[in-house]
Amino acid sequence: AESNHDGAEEGDSQLLSTLPTRQGMWKPFFLYRGCWLTPRSVTSVALVQSQFTPRPDDVFLATYPKCGTTWLKALAFAIANRTVHPIVSGSGAHPLLTTHPQDLVPFLELPHRDVHPIADLDKLPSPRLLSTHMPPSLLPPGVPALGCRVVYLCREPKDVFVSTWHYMNKVGEGFHIDMGASFELFCEGMTLCGPLWEHYLGYWNQSVAEPDRVLFLKYDEMMADTTKHVRMLAKFLRVPFTDEEVSDGAVEEIVSLCSFETLKSLPVNSSGVSDRIGGMPMENSSYFRAGKVGDWKTHLTEEMAKRLDGIVEEKLRGSGLTF
Ligand code: A3P
Repeated sequence: AESNHDGAEEGDSQLLSTLPTRQGMWKPFFLYRGCWLTPRSVTSVALVQSQFTPRPDDVFLATYPKCGTTWLKALAFAIANRTVHPIVSGSGAHPLLTTHPQDLVPFLELPHRDVHPIADLDKLPSPRLLSTHMPPSLLPPGVPALGCRVVYLCREPKDVFVSTWHYMNKVGEGFHIDMGASFELFCEGMTLCGPLWEHYLGYWNQSVAEPDRVLFLKYDEMMADTTKHVRMLAKFLRVPFTDEEVSDGAVEEIVSLCSFETLKSLPVNSSGVSDRIGGMPMENSSYFRAGKVGDWKTHLTEEMAKRLDGIVEEKLRGSGLTF
């Protein structure tokens, strides 16, 4: 299992030796500018900082891991590309029917830059849609300076924990972490890209200061009224739906194509294994589990729920952000 995960030996040892380190869920994590990362992600983030050239019309889909990245990628891709790829129910031609959503919007940071060089991102036509798990403090300074827009998606923290725990135990072959131990780490903020509340607050504060540049969304609200959010996203991406599209049901077509049930059942998402980050093959289905709001209720004790609620409440106090 060791070789399937980030190894310290694969990181930038000179940079890593200067950073605080602690045991994370499966490897030592390193605190890089306030964010807990694996050795390889530290290297990747540092490479992005030095090699990536943002463009003013770039749009970043930013998420904390397990908050609905896959869904947001699908929605944003379908909305932004609907002229080139119209959604005609039953036509079978849309890229989302044959390509995993994770592969339609590339990640800015990836551990194996020898496999996926940053220069590849330079070849993409504008406007680019890119995704990231980095907190705002780790995005290249050009991103806010050039006014690049960001769509941020967060989620009820207890559901994030449950989703993370399932995912961790699914993707690491031969790897198991029990719920109690991973809950401890989660409560301490010791999670990949954590602490979670710092990540949320970073983007929340930016969205308050610059609402036209940073759109702050919650998974739970998006699940409750996806149609409204799809229209909001289209407007933010500067491709609002026309009255004609609305009356033709284009919004509902996108909601339906990107729904959990539709995407999960497609062969491209329900079978097979892909190595997206290099050295860590994962089942394509691992991005689609329950897709529910409040799934924590079937996994956490009342005591655990209270404890995490208390921590999150305290950390977010005064910000205006609540769950
Ligand atoms: P659960 O584990 O709670 O089911 P990410 O894409 O950031 O890794 O997040 C994964 C979570 O989003 C998983 O949550 C997954 O089931 C859920 N998800 C994936 N596709 C979805 C969709 N189309 N609609 C709603 N939720 C989705």
